[in-house]
Order: sequence, then C-alpha cells, then structure tokens
Amino acid sequence: MSILITGGAGYIGSHTCVEMLAAGYEVVVIDNLSNGSKLAIERVEQITGKSVRFYNADVRNKEALCRIFEENSIDAVVHFAGYKAIGESVKEPLMYYENNIVNTLTLLEVMREFGVKKMVFSSSASVYGKSEAMPVSEDAPLCAISPYGRTKLFIEEMLRDLYASDNSWCMALLRYFNPVGAHQSGMIGEAPKEIPNNLMPYISQVAVGKLEHLNVFGNDYNTSDGTGSRDYIHVVDLAKGHVKAVEWTMSESGCEAFNLGTGKGTTVMELRDAFVRTNGVDIPYVVTSRRPGDCDVLYACADKARSELNWQAQLSIEDMCRDTWNWQKNNPDGYEK
Ligand code: NAD
Ligand code: UD1
Repeated sequence: MSILITGGAGYIGSHTCVEMLAAGYEVVVIDNLSNGSKLAIERVEQITGKSVRFYNADVRNKEALCRIFEENSIDAVVHFAGYKAIGESVKEPLMYYENNIVNTLTLLEVMREFGVKKMVFSSSASVYGKSEAMPVSEDAPLCAISPYGRTKLFIEEMLRDLYASDNSWCMALLRYFNPVGAHQSGMIGEAPKEIPNNLMPYISQVAVGKLEHLNVFGNDYNTSDGTGSRDYIHVVDLAKGHVKAVEWTMSESGCEAFNLGTGKGTTVMELRDAFVRTNGVDIPYVVTSRRPGDCDVLYACADKARSELNWQAQLSIEDMCRDTWNWQKNNPDGYEK
C-alpha cells in the first residue's frame, strides 16, 4: 500500500517515513523544502534500505498534487505540511492561514477527486488553549490562543464538516503534545533553521556550545519545582502512532481526535537535569520571567489512543535526552553541513 506523506522531509515527517517503510508501506513524499531537507529523505533511505518517491512541490499547487495522484496509487495521506512557529504566526497571521488552511483545502479537494478518503492529520495540543483539567482528554473544550493554534482548530472543524457531509471519509486528527528526540541512528532529527523557541532544541544547542545558557521561563508556577511542566514524547513513538493511525483509517470510517502523549508531565528543570545526567554535559541556566501565553502544566490523557489505536508511548525521558544529544552532536548545524 502507498502512503502520501506531505511535509515528509521535515522533523516528524522524516521519522514517520522511517516507521511507515519499516511497517511495509510504500512512501511518496511531497515537500516544498521551506523547512525540510532533501538530505533527510536520503537519510531515511539509508536507515531503511528502501526508497522514497520524492516530489519537491507545494501542497497548494493543485496541478502538482494531481500529478502525484495520477502517477501513484495512493491509499491514504498523512498530512504534516504546514508552518508551525507560534511567535511567527502572531506576527504573520495571514501567512499561516494561507499556507496551513489553503494547503489542506487543496489537498482535500484532490483527494476527493481521486477517491482517496483516508487521512491522518497533524493537529496539536495547542487546540486545548489554557485547559485547566489535567490530564487533558479529547473531549476537553477547544480554544486556541495563537493564529497557529487556530489554523489547527479550523482544519479540525473542516475535517469534521467534511465527514458529516460524506461519512465514507476516515480521518484521524492526532493532537501531539511535545515531540522531542531523534532517531536512534542519530541520522535524522530536529533541525531548526533559527534560534529554537522550544525547550529541548534550545537545551541541545546550549550543550553543543551554539547558545550560552538556557533561559528558564519562570520558576513561580504551580508545579513541584516552580518551572512549567509538559508532556514530552519521543518522536519515534509519535511516528509509530502514525502507523497505527493509518491502520485505523484502513479499517474504520469516522473523524476522530486522538491525543499522542505519554500522560506524564516533566518540568523544565527535570528535563534539564535529565539531559545533564544522561549525557554528562553541562547546561548552564538563568531563571528569567515567564513567557507570555505559557500555562503551568499540560499533559495528555492518552487512554483513547491506547484503546482505539492500540498505541502507547514506550520511550523514556532519558531515551529522549540521549537521542537528542546523539543527533545534535553529530549534526551541530542540522542538515546544513
Ligand atoms: P517541520 O517544519 O519540520 O515539517 C513540516 C514540513 O512541511 C517541512 O519539511 C516543510 O518544508 C513542509 N511544508 C510546509 N509547507 C508546505 C507546503 N505548502 N507544501 C509542501 N511542503 C510544505 O515541522 P514538524 O515539527 O515536523 O511538524 C509537522 C506537523 O506537525 C506540522 O503540521 C506541525 O504544525 C505539527 N505539529 C508539530 C509539533 C512540534 O512540536 N514539532 C507539535 C504539534 C503539531
Ligand atoms: C509550544 C507551543 C505549542 C506547541 C509546542 C510543541 C507556545 C506557547 N506553545 O508549547 O503550541 O504545540 O510548543 O511544539 O509556544 N521553556 C523555557 N525556556 C526555553 C523554552 C521553553 O523555560 O527556552 C519552557 C516553557 O516555558 C514551557 C516548557 O519549557 O514551560 C516547554 O516549552 P516549549 O518547548 O516551547 O513547548 P510548549 O510551550 O509546551
């Protein structure tokens, strides 16, 4: 069976290509390389010993998409392509609405034209806004606090509307918590093109000497040590969740959201300490003020993914720290050199 992976040259997409190929699927990738790398695809091929059919094209380009569906017998689509930086989305909201929403709309139109009605969509825990009840489950109220989060929320609504109009579709909306880590080979990983905003890539760039120290955004939160707590999930576990979700779309019809997280919170200081302990490197830090928009605690109830997708995260915080460092120290400049 052939799976089209949009954004497959990016961070989560490349890891998902590896797991899809390992599970016996054929993989076709469309990526415009705005934030991905062709080298990631080559490394996926080296890791798996299998080939990927790669199209350097934009998902908003309907003609290019149609050509892909004509040239390949696609059974399902895993849709990662989109912009993902919260801060940038606040400054450039139209750019986010245009790319994330228009590309999904174009993709859905082409899928319908070719009778391919199975999709796994990259949503985000950011659709929960500032949820109070922890762990957060799929039926919690939805409310996004950034243009980026709103694009995810609107796309979820679009998919629910589409399913309501034609229930032969099957769509899994995967709400990721905090993806971190890298493939165990150290050959693919997260490669931010600018100074990272997220905690784990920031820590690993301090470790490799590219950044001086970690800024801990506030230590007066309502948590065990006062620093913010999140549900970090290893990207390889996350990628395996996509294989399970694709299997689910093959046997079901519906439009369902699933949390992909571990169900466990880890604070900023716990993650920093685990990185130091696991890798034997120093991470100097300075406590600074809170980052606007951050909540105290956010972690998933992952029961639905366990019972309906037969998926559960396996890898520990130590695995995440070890694999992040293995990737970072072997590729200090990501895919650039
Ligand atoms: P990424 O930027 O590494 O990957 C996205 C890929 O999509 C990139 O390779 C980029 O070149 C490509 N792309 C973007 N717009 C495109 C377009 N119009 N046409 C073709 N290709 C296009 O990001 P990622 O971390 O792998 O995230 C993948 C998806 O998961 C995104 O939709 C993101 O919003 C979502 N997500 C990510 C996180 C996270 O922390 N990384 C958390 C929640 C949700
Ligand atoms: C951010 C996004 C969220 C997205 C998620 C995964 C915001 C407000 N939210 O979530 O929508 O789904 O990334 O990509 O940006 N921290 C520091 N120092 C740093 C960086 C972070 O102390 O240099 C702290 C934060 O305050 C937070 C924790 O580390 O408590 C995790 O931050 P981050 O990795 O940015 O993820 P989220 O804020 O959970």
